[in-house]
Amino acid sequence: MNRRNLLKSLGLSIGAAVISTEALAKLGENSYGYKIPANPLHKPMAKPITAVTLGAGNRGTVYGNFAAKFPDQMKIVGVAEPITFRNNLYAKTHNIPDENRFDTWEKVFQKPKFADAIIISTPDYMHYAPCMKALSMGYDILLEKPIAPTEKECRDILAMAKKTGSIVAVCHVLRYAPYFVKMKELVAQGAIGEVISVQHFEPIEHTHMAHSYVRGNWYDSKKTTPIILAKSCHDLDIIKWVINKKSKQIVAMGNLKWFRKENAPEGSIARCTDGCKVERECPYSAIKEYHERRTRNKVLDLPADKSKHSEVIMERLRTTNYGRCVYRMENDQPDHYITSIMFDDNVTANFSMEAFTSYHGRRTRVMGSMGDMVGDMEELVITDFRTRESTKFIPQAEDVEGYKNSGHGGGDWLLVKDFVQAVSQQDSNLLTSTIDESIESHIMGFMAEESRKKGKVMQIRMQKV
Ligand SMILES: NC(=O)c1ccc[n+]([C@@H]2O[C@H](COP(=O)([O-])OP(=O)(O)OC[C@H]3O[C@@H](n4cnc5c(N)ncnc54)[C@H](O)[C@@H]3O)[C@@H](O)[C@H]2O)c1
Repeated sequence: MNRRNLLKSLGLSIGAAVISTEALAKLGENSYGYKIPANPLHKPMAKPITAVTLGAGNRGTVYGNFAAKFPDQMKIVGVAEPITFRNNLYAKTHNIPDENRFDTWEKVFQKPKFADAIIISTPDYMHYAPCMKALSMGYDILLEKPIAPTEKECRDILAMAKKTGSIVAVCHVLRYAPYFVKMKELVAQGAIGEVISVQHFEPIEHTHMAHSYVRGNWYDSKKTTPIILAKSCHDLDIIKWVINKKSKQIVAMGNLKWFRKENAPEGSIARCTDGCKVERECPYSAIKEYHERRTRNKVLDLPADKSKHSEVIMERLRTTNYGRCVYRMENDQPDHYITSIMFDDNVTANFSMEAFTSYHGRRTRVMGSMGDMVGDMEELVITDFRTRESTKFIPQAEDVEGYKNSGHGGGDWLLVKDFVQAVSQQDSNLLTSTIDESIESHIMGFMAEESRKKGKVMQIRMQKV
């Protein structure tokens, strides 16, 4: 069945925005595969865009890998990174000359502009200053989320981007993932009638929580950003994007219930590696996670020589936060967090972020007047109340180019692909996560946090910039 006929059979009309999916094949009874078609606005490029990466950690590497894989689209020509191991690795991968390698972002801007774009993948509290500086020098920007830790800083960046006319793409990567593109498209086409409400669930997975928000980079909300922004600004953004209405009110509850000193089991001590008596039975054991399972250990900067990994991992666990007892950190991020939002036209949404799950992968239910939608990032099932038939949609990135394996359901690299085109054509319409588009969901996050702390329902007022 071709796409037009498929949509017709579902009672849908064609004609959503630039983003759309195309049907590939019938996979089974009422089950269809789809992919993101070639974007008609993309144009052949005479030369790749050039970019400088600030922060060659996890995210800087994801975007750098795009450049390494598609050298005709993007070339990394500079890097700022204080950790020598990462700086060396990045410079080697991208063949960056010594004069364009720096230990800190400030030094990049001591040189006259030497690239088209800046990739800001520094820690959360270090987005604002480099972003403002880069904008003032006329760079276009790929800006990691969260945009900045305060509403004022987010608004400053928006105002500055408007003033300079630069392209600022916020890394709300889920907007580019085929699964969420399909969800947005179907809702926009009226596949379930009028949207009445949404339930969205983010199961972080207990060891991921321990890794990132108890021991890792984001353990202290004051030094980074509150978890509702650090982890869940994606979720607030996707809810808002799918509903496509202004948010009016928000209320949030949640706290740090489990990863606290008073819950430390008897026999536990400061570090898993120092003879903890309950380490073998603890689900959060650092030795099990990083040494035995060898999971999540990119943060440990392991050498290329695998024969050294065992020794280096144990040394890191003895000396860094990654080996500390999860009950004895200085962490303050909530491990369960619920938020309810009222949008225009009385559409409601409930969001729940949960640390204590054995699985990960966002789950969403969209309830409409003529049908509903249930998805888990693998499959999206629509049931039409009129026909009582269910139809299943499964993303089928055939993926010769490797997008599917980039993170966030393919969104990581699909975002960069659009960013490259936006910079090359100097047209921000190629992006779905411009700074203008992304700011509202950040403000929802700030308001949620205020609501959680004050125990009050917050009114969301979007000011004009
Ligand atoms: N879009 C997403 O889905 C997503 C996912 C994870 C993280 N993030 C965000 O991306 C950003 C980076 O996160 P990450 O996981 O890559 O963290 P990371 O710690 O792996 O990388 C950050 C890098 O910045 C470097 N850095 C520190 N000070 C610097 C300075 N003065 N100048 C230049 N570099 C400096 C650090 O040494 C580190 O290597 C954060 O804001 C984070 O919240 C986004």
